[in-house]
Amino acid sequence: MTRLVITVLTLCAAMAAGAVQLSDKQRDEIASRIKPVGEVCLQGDSSCAVASAAGGAAEARSGEEVYNAACMACHATGAGGAPVVGDAAAWADRIAKGMDALHESGIKGVPGTGMMAKGGCMNCSDEEVMAAVDFMVENSQ
Ligand code: HEC
Repeated sequence: MTRLVITVLTLCAAMAAGAVQLSDKQRDEIASRIKPVGEVCLQGDSSCAVASAAGGAAEARSGEEVYNAACMACHATGAGGAPVVGDAAAWADRIAKGMDALHESGIKGVPGTGMMAKGGCMNCSDEEVMAAVDFMVENSQ
């Protein structure tokens, strides 16, 4: 019995000693696991959008998330003549232009109107803006 206990203790000690000897690879993995989840994006800084396009830490937001964060202020109220999401009549002629045209207006904006490029969301990737346009159109027909 004593012998068994000693064997177990020795094994535990060996395992504990092994656990603190990390390889460089393990250290890198741990460092990447504990680094901050979110990264701060400043307006006009496209690095975060690039990171998400490259499949980096920042995951692409859904169309609904982008809409709620960046488009709703105008598109839920009609501010500045923005077509209101859910108002099928306001969207019919726009939808008739086709999704490519609407994606392009979302990304480049509509010159001479309150619709700025990307609705002013400069840290949104093109894909995120297109997803927001899809979300708006799906809820406006
Ligand atoms: C500051 C107000 C404002 C914000 C914020 C805004 N929009 Fe707009 N948007 C407008 C206005 C005004 C129009 C109407 C432009 C026009 O006269 O055709 C418009 C039109 C559009 C259209 C239709 C364009 C067309 O070709 O018919 C799309 C698509 C659109 N917005 C997408 C978005 C998306 C996506 C966002 C968020 C990422 C967004 N908008 C944020 C004001 C805004």
